[in-house]
Amino acid sequence: MTYVVTENCIKCKYMDCVEVCPVDCFYEGSNMLVIHPDECIDCGVCEPECPAEAIKPDTESGLDKWLELNAEYAKSWPNITVKKESPADAKDWDGKKDKLQEFSPEPGTGD
Ligand code: SF4
Ligand code: F3S
Repeated sequence: MTYVVTENCIKCKYMDCVEVCPVDCFYEGSNMLVIHPDECIDCGVCEPECPAEAIKPDTESGLDKWLELNAEYAKSWPNITVKKESPADAKDWDGKKDKLQEFSPEPGTGD
């Protein structure tokens, strides 16, 4: 199994998660992060750290498309291990529905 970053990360991108990961397996897009499923050791410490509750274990149902998205973009986005400033309007996006349409495939800047 692996942990997966899901929809509510989009445009919230709080980045508390990256600081606690013991294997540094978060990768940065311009408006969300993903977890590399082959690098994640399933420790679970990132899940309660996310203020947006966007991190889930892939054992939860209905996460297939998010697992695919994490696996795909972890291959090309840069690694991130240090928290940066989250978007100024992050709170406005927290909990919004249908955020997938806001997803950007553009990479972030990484560490
Ligand atoms: Fe990193 Fe553990 Fe979260 Fe996997 S479950 S992304 S290893 S902190
Ligand atoms: Fe996203 Fe939550 Fe991390 S909003 S950047 S998964 S702390």
